[in-house]
Amino acid sequence: MSHISVLLHETVDAVLAQRTTGVFVDATFGRGGHTRLLLSKLDENAQVFAFDKDPEAIAVATQLAEQDQRFSIIHASFADIKMELNQRDIMHIDGIMADLGVSSPQLDQAERGFSFMHNGALDMRMDNSQGQTAREWLLDIDETALADIIYKYGEERYSRRIAKAIKQAGDIATTAELADIVKNVHPKWEKHKHPATRTFQAIRIAINKELDDVEIFLPQAVELLKPQGRLAVISFHSLEDRLIKQFIQQESTLPEDIGWGLPQQQDTRRLKKIDRVKASEQEVKDNPRSRSAWLRVAERLA
Ligand SMILES: C[S@@+](CC[C@H](N)C(=O)[O-])C[C@H]1O[C@@H](n2cnc3c(N)ncnc32)[C@H](O)[C@@H]1O
Repeated sequence: MSHISVLLHETVDAVLAQRTTGVFVDATFGRGGHTRLLLSKLDENAQVFAFDKDPEAIAVATQLAEQDQRFSIIHASFADIKMELNQRDIMHIDGIMADLGVSSPQLDQAERGFSFMHNGALDMRMDNSQGQTAREWLLDIDETALADIIYKYGEERYSRRIAKAIKQAGDIATTAELADIVKNVHPKWEKHKHPATRTFQAIRIAINKELDDVEIFLPQAVELLKPQGRLAVISFHSLEDRLIKQFIQQESTLPEDIGWGLPQQQDTRRLKKIDRVKASEQEVKDNPRSRSAWLRVAERLA
């Protein structure tokens, strides 16, 4: 299945803020939906850099780079954005967007091992060219640490008994095996949700260091942005959205100890809040994955 881009026009328009040229970044290329729309709205002098961890996304982006001179793809985590761009002599950018989480092809291809809906080898790596698979990671981690991760990243209230069952099972080779282990010890308290949903989410976040990467990425994005440059981030679950919301809040609020009469230079704010957007009813109807999406937009202050 191909990837349907979420909040496509809203995100690209927010990043551009009427500009038609400049240097822009798509931190999460995926299948390039947002990048392509961005390129279509930019003139011939503009430059667009995109990042992705996933070799399949990189293959698609490489083809696009061959067709469009304005576009370059970087196979790296967006956690390394500043270093990667600086190495290419890019010190400042006019706008940046990130559409976090997994793409539909990652979820839908059984062999990527992300989903309990499709049986495949238990992998879950966004960058499957390096690092530990979920299978290896589950063998290494101890029960308490695993329970903590399932609780924290999955917001799963039965984390202890699930972690115990996983560790008792030993080597778990496939997504179906893991889903069954969780299902057997889970009291299924949520309607319309597979009992393994939260556990799979937690393991995926941990394996790919998803929240750590976002935390490292945000301040770098702000440092890279020129005044009036825009940051637009789409998130799909509350943990991620909370991080982004708190970051923008902190960067756009005056420190409490600044009262009137204190020198201007103590104003450390670097961002101004611009918008937060949910997918429209129509978009949710057309693409149910957009239901949980939040787009947050902020602008770099001088
Ligand atoms: C939701 S998809 C993006 C879809 C894209 N906007 C589109 O329209 O096709 C998220 C992508 O971000 C990538 N990704 C996730 N975390 C990343 C990270 N830390 N660094 C680089 N890429 C990452 C994933 O591999 C995936 O391809």
